[in-house]
Amino acid sequence: MQGGLETPGDKSISHRYAMLAALAEGTSELRHFAEAADCHSTLDCMSALGAVVKKEKDEVRITGRGLRGLRGSRKVLDAGNSGTTMRLLAGILAGQGFASKLTGDESLQKRPMKRVMSPLREMGAEIRAREDNFAPLDIHGASLRAIDYKMPMASAQVKSAVLLAGLFAEGETSVTEPGRTRDHTELALAEFGATIEKEQRTTRVRGMAENGGGDLHPISIDVPGDLSSAVFFIAAASLLPNSSLLIQNVGLNPTRTAILDLFLQMGASIQMLSLKTEHGEVVGNLAVKGAELNGGVIEGAQIPQLIDELPMLAALGPYTVQGIEIRDAAELRVKESDRIAALAENLRRMGARVEERQDGLKVEGRGAGKLRGAEIDPRGDHRIAMAFAVAALAAVGPTMIRESECAGVSYPSFFLQLNRLAER
Ligand code: S3P
Repeated sequence: MQGGLETPGDKSISHRYAMLAALAEGTSELRHFAEAADCHSTLDCMSALGAVVKKEKDEVRITGRGLRGLRGSRKVLDAGNSGTTMRLLAGILAGQGFASKLTGDESLQKRPMKRVMSPLREMGAEIRAREDNFAPLDIHGASLRAIDYKMPMASAQVKSAVLLAGLFAEGETSVTEPGRTRDHTELALAEFGATIEKEQRTTRVRGMAENGGGDLHPISIDVPGDLSSAVFFIAAASLLPNSSLLIQNVGLNPTRTAILDLFLQMGASIQMLSLKTEHGEVVGNLAVKGAELNGGVIEGAQIPQLIDELPMLAALGPYTVQGIEIRDAAELRVKESDRIAALAENLRRMGARVEERQDGLKVEGRGAGKLRGAEIDPRGDHRIAMAFAVAALAAVGPTMIRESECAGVSYPSFFLQLNRLAER
């Protein structure tokens, strides 16, 4: 694999900028906005709530109406496949003076929402859900009170929902996380002018909507490339001998780069170049060359920091020297699909030796034999489809990925880019 690549704008960051731009007073310009279908679900929701959203290629202009300016949507808000849209937006809707109904596709309706409902209820919102856990959610916004929330789990989405609700609460809301998770919400809140402080694992945000606390201001910003999308190309370039790939302008926020540390530990050849910090986010280039990967065990505090990269790592397992073992990752069962089951099933289809466990899986390394091409069922999950496309590049014989267009949830141009680079 030879050449250069720029991945589309970061999905996590694009969601946050879009939501905060809709709450700011004035027009924000978001360049290199994510092409991910998930982020378009967020744009559609913010537009249904009264923000003016204009899109031209990968530039999005959003005119917000101020913190108190959203209005109730006549239609049900649809988060599509996007957990981030549903959980973060729930935080915003909890603080509004109107009621909202928030739903999503079949997969999202199976994902747990109690984790955001509990703290938002503590803050004063009234929320109803199917079986008290699943979408559709009926959210009756209220005057919120600030809370000090100790999160029972390490989740950036839960942390973000509480911090966003905190903007509408009287007083200072704090969230303490048990393990480090991505901090894009904190950085974005600061960029838009909120008062936010971080001290070790605790983040505090000052309420703005009460007592004439001012407004968020609009921003003009370039979204960094998505590292979680780049990971599929880092894996492909590592796997294919004689590769030389340059990935440009990719987000290298330290709360996201655990995957690079792990790849390096496993023997990958990755160089970080031209690092700079823009609007709080670290951006740089990555030069990747083919290398032998050792594999190893991934567990504990590593898991929340690598959560989206685990499908790619597991699918690389059969090509590594020692194999890959993933522990403490039961959360993978409630992602866009049951990722543990999806990985085990599809790896076996390709001839890998896999032990499936409740909280992870053990994939044997290359001593167990070469992978062969197979028919893959990604279960509608973008990261499973992309992980197996990469695994297929080094397998013997062709692979067919069913409904591969599900990759568009995060990376619509993935197969185009992979074709372009893999041919060289
Ligand atoms: C995300 C947080 C993570 C991650 C998801 C995006 C975010 O979810 O898996 O793809 O943008 O905050 P959790 O907060 O559930 O760990």
